[in-house]
Amino acid sequence: MMGEWIIEPATVESLPDILHIEEACFSAPWTRKMLEAELSGNPFAHFLLAKLVPPSDVGSISIVGYLCFWVVFEEVRLMNLAVIESMRHKGIAKALVLQALEAGLTQAAMCAVLEVRASNHAAHALYRSLGFRDVTTRPMYYTNPIEDALLMELDPIVSESGPLRTHEVDREGGRIRPLQ
Ligand SMILES: CC(C)(COP(=O)(O)OP(=O)(O)OC[C@H]1O[C@@H](n2cnc3c(N)ncnc32)[C@H](O)[C@@H]1OP(=O)(O)O)[C@@H](O)C(=O)NCCC(=O)NCCS
Repeated sequence: MMGEWIIEPATVESLPDILHIEEACFSAPWTRKMLEAELSGNPFAHFLLAKLVPPSDVGSISIVGYLCFWVVFEEVRLMNLAVIESMRHKGIAKALVLQALEAGLTQAAMCAVLEVRASNHAAHALYRSLGFRDVTTRPMYYTNPIEDALLMELDPIVSESGPLRTHEVDREGGRIRPLQ
């Protein structure tokens, strides 16, 4: 049986795991140097990890996804999000984004923005399912391959449809779990 997963803030020690996921999931991955700068040199940046917890108490915990986001005054900026292929379609990315939005709210952020490759239908559908809407296109924003970006926005973060209510947050532990 596959163990459950939890979401926790990252530490600098998580860098090799994040780099591994980054390189496995993107055609133009962030480098170690870029990740290091975000993890330890950017006061706006936050990292969340999705960790697989094996059923038994013995055994190792592995990192299966991550999200980097910035909280810049009233705005949450989703910077990079990835889940390893074998763990997709389980709600992990959704939970990571929801936890980032919760974290933004606790820091008085009111809206959230992101850019996504125009051809990335999975990510686009994910963000749409969370209430984000398309704002504009940024031509030739990405390299390797060159591609347009869609700018998406969630404003305000808390919507009437209540995407934040689809998960429960254990505020003490800083973890989020899908509602049963
Ligand atoms: C995009 C990505 C992060 C989604 O991760 P995930 O954990 O599989 O996503 P979730 O299981 O949380 O999906 C939540 C919702 O997103 C949408 N979605 C996710 N993957 C999808 C796909 N392949 N096709 C269509 N919709 C998809 C669905 O609406 C889904 O809800 P549902 O399962 O109730 O239908 C993952 O595919 C990935 O890491 N891709 C490579 C890196 C990347 O593109 N990152 C995003 C950069 S902006």
